[in-house]
Amino acid sequence: MSGWRIKRFIRPPAGSRDMKLCVIGAGYVGLATAVMFGKLGHEVTVVDVVEPRVRTVNSGKSPFYEPPLEKELAKLVKRGMLKATTSASGAVKDAAAIFICVQTPPLPSGKIDIRPVKTACRDVGKLLRTADGYKVVVMKSTVVPGTTESMVLPLLEKYSGKKACEGFGLCMNPEFLQEGSAIKDSLEPARIVIGSMDKRSGDLLMKLHAPIKAAKIRTDLTSAEMIKYASNTFLATKISYANEMANMCYLFGIDSEPVLRAAGFDPRIGPLFLKPGLGYGGSCLPKDVNALKERARRAGYRSRLLTALDAINESQPGEAIRMLEDAAGPVRGKRIAVLGLAFKGGVDDTRETRAVPLISSLLAKGAHVVAFDPMATPNFIRLMPTIEYASSAAECLKGADGCIVQADWKEFRDLGRKEFSTMRVAILVDGRRSLDPAKVEAAGARYLGVGYGLARGKGR
Ligand code: NAD
Ligand code: UGA
Repeated sequence: MSGWRIKRFIRPPAGSRDMKLCVIGAGYVGLATAVMFGKLGHEVTVVDVVEPRVRTVNSGKSPFYEPPLEKELAKLVKRGMLKATTSASGAVKDAAAIFICVQTPPLPSGKIDIRPVKTACRDVGKLLRTADGYKVVVMKSTVVPGTTESMVLPLLEKYSGKKACEGFGLCMNPEFLQEGSAIKDSLEPARIVIGSMDKRSGDLLMKLHAPIKAAKIRTDLTSAEMIKYASNTFLATKISYANEMANMCYLFGIDSEPVLRAAGFDPRIGPLFLKPGLGYGGSCLPKDVNALKERARRAGYRSRLLTALDAINESQPGEAIRMLEDAAGPVRGKRIAVLGLAFKGGVDDTRETRAVPLISSLLAKGAHVVAFDPMATPNFIRLMPTIEYASSAAECLKGADGCIVQADWKEFRDLGRKEFSTMRVAILVDGRRSLDPAKVEAAGARYLGVGYGLARGKGR
């Protein structure tokens, strides 16, 4: 990522610069949006309700681990192109567009918690009441199809006392960035989706995104919301499909890696998102699968596919433990190292990380767990305060009777004989298929990748 540079072609053409924009929410999406528009020459104010977060942003730092974002943020803050505040009033009053980027976390029912969006709409609506000019409110938070029209719109009209398309504009502009490459994905997206109520609002978003070379799809508000869910649930489908194939390969005594790689050469299938492992975690894929399933159920449709995706995903940590036990016997009473606690390598985000069900299952089976993550340990301690934590990967492996790699951190690929030789039983289950099997085995440890194990051991 460090070698990546903003391409020249996205330099803003005259006429699309120098707007004032407001972003509500200083999370991944809000800050990536703010940095993107800042780099395109606009003056952006980010509003957040969490005071320490606002202070962090104003000091040019990112509140989460995303190094390229932090680098760009620091430059923009220094140049006065980006600032953060807890008070939305000035920011909304001056802005041509207001981007709502607040969280929509999952509820136990599978639905999303829409309260942060409601609060943001109420606050923005109240400020629109006294604001001059035509401002466009843009929903970027992921919300189930129908929400912008049936909830965001009436709230904005109620609190502003103005009519949509007359007093203010309304768009739905879903975000597709991946954590770990947030800025690159914002500046070089695969596509930009602009759902709008009226042409005028959509035209403003088109103008704002004009310097960015990407397919631009204009549509209505509800289709834009559905495009986001169609995309994320397809990614989850690929992962659960890969996991299903890998689980079968394991039982057939073959390695799933060449099988899925060969399948991926077909352009109709594609090579990406076919890595088997412990399942998809993170703040969005699990949440979005369940939220769409729940939204469909309310509309009278029972989604068998989404139910199956979730069921496969839930069983993957158990598959990894089974592989370890098949090779090395029951984990009861053993010291098991878990490397990687973030929901994937390269981030410190532990939302819906598969480390939680993995470690919970190991503990339920009577194992002693020692865990390590290069960046996410402080966040993970809040989820599981009582397990043992190591201060390095090497320390984590010391005396272990086996190890499961839960997140694909690059530095785990450098582990070798020095570290493996300190393990009581040198056996690694690669829960992300991110290590080099030959390198691990040459360094004296037994390698088992999910969808790989019995290729080198006993068959069933
Ligand atoms: P986040 O939790 O990282 O950040 C949300 C921020 O909004 C927080 O800082 C919070 O304090 C702030 N906030 C909440 N209510 C507020 C209010 N009323 N006024 C001002 N600030 C407020 O969330 P995120 O990960 O950026 O996700 C935001 C939305 O975008 C979600 O709907 C998510 O599903 C979607 N999304 C996320 C990603 C991702 O990679 N994280 C990618 C695409 C889409
Ligand atoms: C995902 C999508 O990739 C983004 O396009 C989307 O914008 C975002 O969700 C969102 O809506 O928030 P992200 O949450 O950053 O992005 O994570 P991914 O890189 O997609 O990984 C999700 C999970 O799937 C991780 O646990 C990862 O380890 C797992 N995964 C990914 C696999 O198990 N196999 C794969 O082949 C790929």
